This record gives sequence, structure tokens and C-alpha cells, in this order.
Amino acid sequence: MIYFVTSNKGKFAEAREVFEDLVQKNIGYPELQANTLEEVVAFGLVDVTARLKVPVIIEDAGLFIEGLNGFPGVYSAYVQKTLGNPGILKLMEGVEDRRAYFASIVGYAEPGMEPVAFRGEVWGTIGFEARGAMGFGYDPIFYLGDKSMAQVETEEKNKMSHRGRSMRALKEWLDNRQLRRN
Ligand code: IMP
Repeated sequence: MIYFVTSNKGKFAEAREVFEDLVQKNIGYPELQANTLEEVVAFGLVDVTARLKVPVIIEDAGLFIEGLNGFPGVYSAYVQKTLGNPGILKLMEGVEDRRAYFASIVGYAEPGMEPVAFRGEVWGTIGFEARGAMGFGYDPIFYLGDKSMAQVETEEKNKMSHRGRSMRALKEWLDNRQLRRN
């Protein structure tokens, strides 16, 4: 069994499709204001592993918009709370380069081992309007082709998403470690 420390139900539902033995633990941890998602995850894991002596996952994600020089990036949570999707659409008015990517860093630790981290990314474009009611956060304005990520089921989103990719990379690492041990 692995604990996923997060308050985000959407994230948990997505991760749960990759790890069947996952349990959501909503206990919070300090989010370092850092320049990279990797630093946020490494710092958070130190705090979480000091409190939970079991296998744990934490994950940090961000939206990086090319035409805005990577904004909101590591500030994605704060910007979603303050400007929201309407604010991003407004900022994008007149911006030609609408390419963007989501990045997800998942960190894993268990007692007696060095933590590991895996990255997943997905490229898409920022649409001209919000569409769809599935997913969460920036999903309604992040498009893959002509559909936003809020217009596809979790299973479909997971196949190509940043989180699906980072979680599957961790799963593969854990499965391989298990094979090496047997
Ligand atoms: P955090 O990883 O919880 O810090 O997420 C940063 C911000 O990006 C939050 O506002 C999330 O809602 C948003 N976000 C994270 N992952 C996704 C995703 O898969 N789709 C859309 N928005 C996301």
C-alpha cells in the first residue's frame, strides 16, 4: 500500500488508475516557493517522510505557456486561485504562440531509501474558450487537438497526460525493482 499525500481528488483519481493500492492522505505539507517543481517535491517529501513511516507519493504539477515565457509555471496553483481560467484567457488575448505544456513531478519515498522522482509532460495549446466539465484546474482551457482535457474521461486523459506519464514511470521503476529482488 502507498499513501498519496494530496488534497486534490482529481489528482488522486488519476493516480489511482495507475496504482491500485493507493490511499489518499490529506495531511498537507509545506510548499516551497521554488524555481522548479522538482525542488517543491524534494522539499515536501522531507516533511512528509518525517511524519509518515510508510511508502509515500507526493506530486507537483504546473502549466507552462510558451507565449507567456513559461508563466504560470511554478506559480500555477496561486494563479489558478487568483486569475483562474478566465484570467489566463484574457492574458492570452493577442498572444500568437498558444503552445503550452503541463509538467508533473512525482516523488516517492519509503523508510530506509533515497527518494526518487519522475517527470511527465504533455504538450497542447491554450484554447480560445473554456470547454468541458471533467478534470480540474486548467483542463478546460488546455487543448489536445480540438478537444480540451476537460472533455475527455479520466482514463483517456491518463493515457497522454503529464500525470499519467510520471505515475507510469514510477510504477515501472517499482515493478522493475520488484523483479530485481525476486
Ligand atoms: P499543484 O500540483 O497542486 O500545485 O497544481 C498546480 C496548479 O495546476 C493547480 O491549480 C492545479 O489545479 C493545476 N493542475 C495540476 N494538475 C493539473 C491537471 O492535470 N490539469 C489541469 N490543471 C492542473
